[in-house]
Amino acid sequence: MKKAHVITGLWLMGLYMAALPVIAQQLPRQQFIQRLMKQMTLDEKIGQLNLLTSDMDVTGPFMKEDYKKEIASGLCGAIFNAYTPRYTRQLQEIAMKTRLKIPLLFGYDVIHGHKTIFPIPLGEACTWDMALLEKSARIAAEEASADGLHWTFSPMVDIARDPRWGRVAEGVGEDTWYGVQVAKAKVKGYQGTDLSANNTILACVKHFALYGAVEAGRDYNTVDMSRHQMFEVYMPPYKAAIDAGVATVMTAFNEVDGIPATGNRWLLTDLLRKQWGFKGFVVTDYTSMNEMIPHGVAKNEYEAGGLAMNAGVDMDMQGSIYVTQLKQLLQDKKITLQQIDAAVYRVLEAKYNLGLFSDPFRYCDTTRAQQVILSAAHLQAAREIAQRSIVLLKNEGQLLPLKKQGTIAVIGPLADSKRDMIGNWSAAGDAARAVTLLEGIKNKLGQGATVLYAPGGHITTDANLLSKAWQQPQLKQSDTANSAQMLATALEQAKKADIVVMALGESQGMTGEAASRSDISIPPGQRSLLKAIMATGKPVVLVLMNGRPLTLEWENEHVPAILETWFLGTTAGDAIADVLFGDYNPSGKITMTFSRNVGQIPIYYNYKNTGRPLDPNNKYSSKYLDVSNEPLFPFGFGLSYTRFTYSPVSLDKKQLSSTSKLRIMVKVANEGNYDGEEVVQLYIRDHQGSITRPVKELKGFKKIFLKKGESRDIVFELGAADLKFYDKELHWTTEPGSFTVFVGTNSRDVQSADFTLQ
Ligand code: BGC
Repeated sequence: MKKAHVITGLWLMGLYMAALPVIAQQLPRQQFIQRLMKQMTLDEKIGQLNLLTSDMDVTGPFMKEDYKKEIASGLCGAIFNAYTPRYTRQLQEIAMKTRLKIPLLFGYDVIHGHKTIFPIPLGEACTWDMALLEKSARIAAEEASADGLHWTFSPMVDIARDPRWGRVAEGVGEDTWYGVQVAKAKVKGYQGTDLSANNTILACVKHFALYGAVEAGRDYNTVDMSRHQMFEVYMPPYKAAIDAGVATVMTAFNEVDGIPATGNRWLLTDLLRKQWGFKGFVVTDYTSMNEMIPHGVAKNEYEAGGLAMNAGVDMDMQGSIYVTQLKQLLQDKKITLQQIDAAVYRVLEAKYNLGLFSDPFRYCDTTRAQQVILSAAHLQAAREIAQRSIVLLKNEGQLLPLKKQGTIAVIGPLADSKRDMIGNWSAAGDAARAVTLLEGIKNKLGQGATVLYAPGGHITTDANLLSKAWQQPQLKQSDTANSAQMLATALEQAKKADIVVMALGESQGMTGEAASRSDISIPPGQRSLLKAIMATGKPVVLVLMNGRPLTLEWENEHVPAILETWFLGTTAGDAIADVLFGDYNPSGKITMTFSRNVGQIPIYYNYKNTGRPLDPNNKYSSKYLDVSNEPLFPFGFGLSYTRFTYSPVSLDKKQLSSTSKLRIMVKVANEGNYDGEEVVQLYIRDHQGSITRPVKELKGFKKIFLKKGESRDIVFELGAADLKFYDKELHWTTEPGSFTVFVGTNSRDVQSADFTLQ
């Protein structure tokens, strides 16, 4: 070809490319993408399947130094761990200089808020308020999209029954039905109804699948379970997110039926796409494609890439296997061009849906970022959600709420720790903006009372634990030497006070990913501090800060008042002070069982009866010799400053047909001295089935507000469809038989009534 022709050709092509955004607005999605794909080389296509971390914030083992070069050469279609309008614009500008100007997609772990940090998911779950859960996701999307982001790696909906697993902090606990409600609310909150709006982002349901069932609670460990348990307990929240229209799915690190999730065709194609009809794109977890080599199902990256593509993975997170192996795999006919095209199509479709082809910089608006991020309204919402996430575990002699007067000693290594307040996976959260408990109490009391403070010791002095829980700065020798002095100061302060508020628990680095613990009690140094302060005889309120249900037998036996506050986010200290001083009457209810000791784990309320159910008088019944079967705090538990009473439960019929509805009625009264909110919970038990059924299953709840002295009739409705379960052929079905309904304030303290399904 003559040089002049080449130049004309390039010029024409340039004109076409410059016109891309305009075409995007004019052409319908499918036509636009197909036309674009016709222009793409194989390398450019494969580049769209490559997701790399930027150097701004790294969340995994390694990064590619030259990721900007890969963007420039069209070999990277998506970036994570990069945000702010300025930085994302800078990277997007590189992409706009590539031949086809295909915009980058920016993803990030916006797990519980972006800049305005909300309580960790396990804490927020205690609100039992779907509107609030949706709202925090909405706000997170508002802020993230204003900060240059298009895509969050949330919600994490892994059902978890083992608090040793550090990642229980990221999910909503042990219950499937509850997990389904939250999955729906979160997807709606992030994605809204229109992804092309500039304040909505793609959600990513994770970790598909079964990650919450890692053996012994050790992160990244093996998972093995029956298909029945899989479908009955673990799958429904992922499925709910798919049904709610979630745009993307992230694979899990673990294996499913002996095959790593990232290479599992049954999981990613037969179930996810064919059976559930998922239309979005599937991304691996961080290098999980490469990890199929140590898993032992692939000899090398070539094989791992083939397994992943054939399983149905569209995008490779940080593994760089697709960019290095797909071409060869295609040449060797191990995969087809249709497979690559289908994956590329899905990725481009997501970009189109976000409006990125119309304006690749539409999420890079500095003015919007300034207006939206950490706005007063967002902080106010965060405070309300944080208040409602707090769970009152014990309140002997109505020690709480406290009076706003006298001398209060605030003691404990977590009492003034800003970084811990925003918890793990607080992503772009700014610890400097967080309000600590000490600050919250001072804000509340002003000059009205005297507030004393002493840390009293360290979160832990276990150097091994500290170095592994990486975010915790190493203790200096002098700090260790200071322990005795720190304790002495704390004791002095306690002795001067009328009441002691102690902030104890875990540091945020002891929770979350790669933070499994085999001993889930309050670390020994803190327990000694608590004992020493208790020995002064001063009344003590224990404010727990942690990312998992802890074992608290000693504390529950000895400390008069215990508040579970998790890691509550940016407004933590203010929200805790609101509850401590009665400006908000606590209403949170735990969504994960608190065991008495580690030996009881896994422990959950919806266990099976077994053939030898507990009989205290029969040695050969299902129990321990050294601990009761009962948890310390059951699922759904949480106290209030007021007292709610429940009338007996009545039913409108004793027999339910397949077409009728059962009405379940109960009167709830507020007989205490405070206005307050109560979560009225509904459970059922199916007494016989062709498959064994749990002793209780959550089927509904109502969160109500009652003024003191007020009462209300509560009505639940159940139909046959609510009684369905998976039979042995894995058909979702009902079986006639006898049932019990339970209504109550938690999964243990309930009223009941019986009915039959015809
Ligand atoms: C985690 C994911 C997370 C990803 C990206 C992984 O280590 O398992 O949950 O979204 O990193 O940061």
